[in-house]
Amino acid sequence: MGINTVKLGKTGLNVSELALGTARFGSQRSDGEKEISRDQAHRLLDRYAEAGGNFIDMADVYGGGRAEEYVGDWLGEQDRDKFILASKIYWPTREDDPNAQGLNRKHLRTQIDNILNRLGTDYVDLLYIHRWDNETPVAEFMRTLNGFVNDGRVHYLGASNRDPNAWQVVKANEIAKREGWEPFTNTQIIVNLVDRQIEPEYLPMVESYGLGLMPFSPLAGGFLTGKYERDESPPEGSRGAHEDRFREMYLTDENFDVLDTVREVADEYNASVVQVSLAWLLQHPAVTAPVIGPRTVDQLEANIDATDVDLSEDAFERLSEATSVPY
Ligand SMILES: NC(=O)c1ccc[n+]([C@@H]2O[C@H](COP(=O)([O-])OP(=O)(O)OC[C@H]3O[C@@H](n4cnc5c(N)ncnc54)[C@H](OP(=O)(O)O)[C@@H]3O)[C@@H](O)[C@H]2O)c1
Repeated sequence: MGINTVKLGKTGLNVSELALGTARFGSQRSDGEKEISRDQAHRLLDRYAEAGGNFIDMADVYGGGRAEEYVGDWLGEQDRDKFILASKIYWPTREDDPNAQGLNRKHLRTQIDNILNRLGTDYVDLLYIHRWDNETPVAEFMRTLNGFVNDGRVHYLGASNRDPNAWQVVKANEIAKREGWEPFTNTQIIVNLVDRQIEPEYLPMVESYGLGLMPFSPLAGGFLTGKYERDESPPEGSRGAHEDRFREMYLTDENFDVLDTVREVADEYNASVVQVSLAWLLQHPAVTAPVIGPRTVDQLEANIDATDVDLSEDAFERLSEATSVPY
């Protein structure tokens, strides 16, 4: 079937129902290998675009800037205006420099220039704060971001991560509204079948204000692909094989119980665990577009195949009930 488009929250922008994440483009693994090389990144981008995808998710720090460079090279051969480019700013870009991080005006202005230079474009469609900055006044960063929208370098604004929490997003948007500045119209936060922490507070905020919702790590970093087994070592070369944090976060008995339900549903639909896990997000009424992070073209194909699965209400509910929601 291929990738369809949806509206980004209440905006008029049409974005792909699956966004392509680039966090691993040019990033270094613990063994020194590049997780996704320039060539591999270009193959992923080619296949994603060929399948109808237009939405590329980046951040200024991914691969130390290499993610945006790889995308920029590739865009040079494309019609840039056909793509929705998103990036993020917050994390440090220089060691021991308190101004080279956060959401202070100096860092925001430096980084928007760096992002546009690396991408070789005049504008990004969507700029996120990568997280909240407790040390910069809200009005300082909202006014600065509004300036980027006014001068055309940014089209829409987003807030990423659990920190800002719901009230902080609302506070920033209330200040923006009062001042006539551009508000956050989109959010990006972790959501998947084994991480439902947004549900008590953040999700009602997203729904109540009609914000876009881009779940990141939709496959729980690969856990929800079915390639990990209870009481077995992670497969060689997988994220679980080389990241302690991944093993601590995901390889738990509770998560394997959820996976059992996903496998049951997958069998009923003659589908894969990947398809069912992503279909649950694709069919979630609050979700705009999950941000997928395939490392290979085969993984990308398997992710795209999720758009072919149509879960019944009953299957959707069984999956939703398989996870305990924290209150
Ligand atoms: N805003 C934020 O703070 C934030 C944070 C995290 C991520 N993100 C965004 O979200 C994107 C996706 O995050 P994520 O990489 O954690 O997403 P994910 O979809 O949960 O995990 C992707 C990983 O799962 C494995 N995988 C994917 N498809 C597979 C398949 N068909 N078969 C087997 N394994 C498969 C691969 O890992 P291995 O092959 O290495 O095992 C792949 O790198 C990032 O690139 C970034 O753009 C944003």
